[in-house]
Amino acid sequence: MTGTTGPADIGLIGLGTMGAMLALNIAEKGFRIAVWNRTSAVTTKFAAGAGELAANIVPTGTLAELVAAIARPRRIILMVPAGAAVDESIAHLKPLLAADDLIIDAGNSDFHDTNRRAKAAVAGETPHFLGIGVSGGEEGARHGPSIMAGGEAADWTRAAPVLEAIAARYDGSPCATYMGAAGAGHFVKAVHNGIEYADMQMIAEVYGVMRDGLGLRADEIAGVFERWNEGPLKSYLIEISAAVSRATDPKTGKAMLDVILDRAGQKGTGKWTAIEALQLGAPIPVIDAAVMARNVSSRLDERREGEALFGPAPKRFADGAVSLAQLEQALIAGKILCYAQGFGLLATASTAYAWDLPMPAIARVWRAGCIIRSAMLNDMAAALERAPTRSLIQDPVFIGLIRTAEPGLRTVVGQGALHGHPMPALSSGLSWFDLMRTARSTANMIQAQRDFFGAHGFERVDDTATGLHGPWGSHAPA
Ligand code: 6PG
Repeated sequence: MTGTTGPADIGLIGLGTMGAMLALNIAEKGFRIAVWNRTSAVTTKFAAGAGELAANIVPTGTLAELVAAIARPRRIILMVPAGAAVDESIAHLKPLLAADDLIIDAGNSDFHDTNRRAKAAVAGETPHFLGIGVSGGEEGARHGPSIMAGGEAADWTRAAPVLEAIAARYDGSPCATYMGAAGAGHFVKAVHNGIEYADMQMIAEVYGVMRDGLGLRADEIAGVFERWNEGPLKSYLIEISAAVSRATDPKTGKAMLDVILDRAGQKGTGKWTAIEALQLGAPIPVIDAAVMARNVSSRLDERREGEALFGPAPKRFADGAVSLAQLEQALIAGKILCYAQGFGLLATASTAYAWDLPMPAIARVWRAGCIIRSAMLNDMAAALERAPTRSLIQDPVFIGLIRTAEPGLRTVVGQGALHGHPMPALSSGLSWFDLMRTARSTANMIQAQRDFFGAHGFERVDDTATGLHGPWGSHAPA
């Protein structure tokens, strides 16, 4: 740290909401930070609004000025939109930087892009490069995000003093962790976002059951979420679900939730997670279902036509069909199953990409600062400490939790199906669980069909030989 005069400790490009908050956080932690934005007026306004933190902020008018303001070897954070803007920033910085300078991409970049950029850096084509996933939204960026870093370990060591200082803390430990080479940090962030989608979708599903199945008002639903937030479901997303359920629309006086259109947006990280999991053959059906549900939500006109054609589902439950306690258990079970899938994907990717991902540390870095922070992540960290690549559903503590919560999930999904409640995420979790506890599945039928139409071969239950064929010839349809 150099104090309030002299060269800046670090630079930051991109003063949008996240960049501005991150810069204030860095300045607040005592680092002198040089900032630059493509539109100079944004930089001027930012510095003018920084209050006493302005003493640690060096506004600059050009990229060259930014670079000149930073102590060498330089560290520069990019907070620009993922995609082409990151490549353009690197291209513009390259002629201004020395070979030992370090560019840190803190946006929601696709990890394939980060792999490519890290490779170019390692080959000496660009300055050093780190890709860091930053979670926690605006509030997190300002007061303590969760940070997942990927790149060369030595570059992480150079960036860590600043990133650990600004990160959220859990029991005093910073939630900023080196995940592995190249795109590992952005991959872990993408999986975080996939889980974020799934957590949100499962909460939306139980919200739907409370609203349409039990006929609860939004403020009553808020009370339920508030109570759940004192138990095993304690988490940021349950907390904000209570808050949004309690809010009133200033315009109409109605519950805010009741005037918000049911069409959900997305920027793509959940979709990337689903695509990557398919590529790796790692099943994450709860996350897949959450991405699908967002896609369906955006087809509002088609859904309206569907309701006009088929009529609305008979959503109201008879008294006692589903209790709030069962709903809570359903959410607990769904959450465990979803995280088991997410960590399963991380374990598969770790092997496939030779990242050696620090599995318990991933659970730990998600315990504070990020959107999916929850009490349960501490138990998951402990489970992954016991056996880093074992599925959570095989951990003794989670076996106990699942045994307790599974009947609730089954009742909610079963009653939901009978009454026409769409529950893509919770029901996918249950189906996956049932698949995972079925020693004799129905894939024998698939193998028989494949062999029948394409002579693809199968194995037998009573033989170790492979590539066997069935006696189909005489039974083939004409
Ligand atoms: C976070 C979030 C954040 C993400 C938003 C919006 O960890 O802080 O994941 O990075 O951009 O949640 O994502 P969608 O627009 O895709 O919902």
